[in-house]
Amino acid sequence: MSILEQSGTTLFVCVTCRAQTAAGPSDEQPRAGTRLLAAIEAAPSELRAGLTIAPAECLSNCNRACSVAVTAPGKWTYVLGALDPDLHAQDVLAFARLHQKHEAGLPAWRERPEYIRKNTVARVPALPTR
Ligand code: FES
Repeated sequence: MSILEQSGTTLFVCVTCRAQTAAGPSDEQPRAGTRLLAAIEAAPSELRAGLTIAPAECLSNCNRACSVAVTAPGKWTYVLGALDPDLHAQDVLAFARLHQKHEAGLPAWRERPEYIRKNTVARVPALPTR
């Protein structure tokens, strides 16, 4: 395993996200965010290799649920939204792997899954080092 693959990339999945319907947030159980986490954890192991996948409670992107965040020490942090647990688990993992492989956590735009390109909510730079 290379140094970049050991970069400690964490994929936070908001498990409190509710599916958005025309009438507002769904009351379905389990919540859509919990189903997204399950779908990500059920993906083939080679798609999750080297990633730490962790639940989180609310990433303050509730109106564009489901939401995840991808981060690593010394790298950019990305928040992704409007994710469907039945459709986007592998897109999220593909993005997380690109983030993992890039030294600064800046996946090339063209390499990102198209749905992720269109549903990136925010990116935050790494903390400055002294
Ligand atoms: S509940 Fe998931 S972002 Fe708020």
